[in-house]
Amino acid sequence: MSLPATKVPVGVLVSGSGTNLQALLDACADPDFPARVAVVLSNRPGALALERARAAGVPTEVHLQREHPDRATYDRALVASLEAHGVEWVCLAGYMRLVTPAFLRAFPNRVLNIHPALLPAFPGLHAQEQAHAHGVRIAGATVHLVDEGTDTGPIVVQGAVPVLPDDTLPDLTARILRMEHRLYPLALRWAAEGRVRVEGRHVRLDLPPGSSPALLDPEP
Ligand code: GRF
Repeated sequence: MSLPATKVPVGVLVSGSGTNLQALLDACADPDFPARVAVVLSNRPGALALERARAAGVPTEVHLQREHPDRATYDRALVASLEAHGVEWVCLAGYMRLVTPAFLRAFPNRVLNIHPALLPAFPGLHAQEQAHAHGVRIAGATVHLVDEGTDTGPIVVQGAVPVLPDDTLPDLTARILRMEHRLYPLALRWAAEGRVRVEGRHVRLDLPPGSSPALLDPEP
């Protein structure tokens, strides 16, 4: 497999604190990492993620829904901005909106999302809380390709973490988040290296030796 000579431009959509964005920015800072964050878009002006982007010298834009008549027009503005920055892959990183079908058509099978649960368990909001309340023994996180459903797209990589008997919800949330920060750079690396191929419900990964699409914490 030939690796790209230049870094693949990526757009990241955020709404909140941006710790996953930070993990991506940190990975991209490595000269050998095959992607770079070309632009960060937020629907919330006060998102801490925007400060993280600025600190890394990455252009940012805030797009407010109230400045657009509907979701389709809003997403068209996002697509225009991403295209203006030459973006080839999009990462949703704590982006608290659903993207429209037209958005997905602009980046077919090239939109990644990270979800703080072992999908298909606990899709939607408050996944860690759902897992904690349910009493599962193993929790985790998933990076998947985005389709028109909520957290339903083909799975790229998953990481499992234990749920310990005395875990509070913040304990579990923090353990899952640490796993998220391992998973997202890995998935983006594979995406940028052209290793991610979709076959129906499945992502076929052409991985280098020693890489696994199933991570465990703690490592055995
Ligand atoms: C993460 O738990 C992510 O999985 C979920 O939203 C949270 C965002 O956190 N989609 P951050 O903004 O990356 O810190």
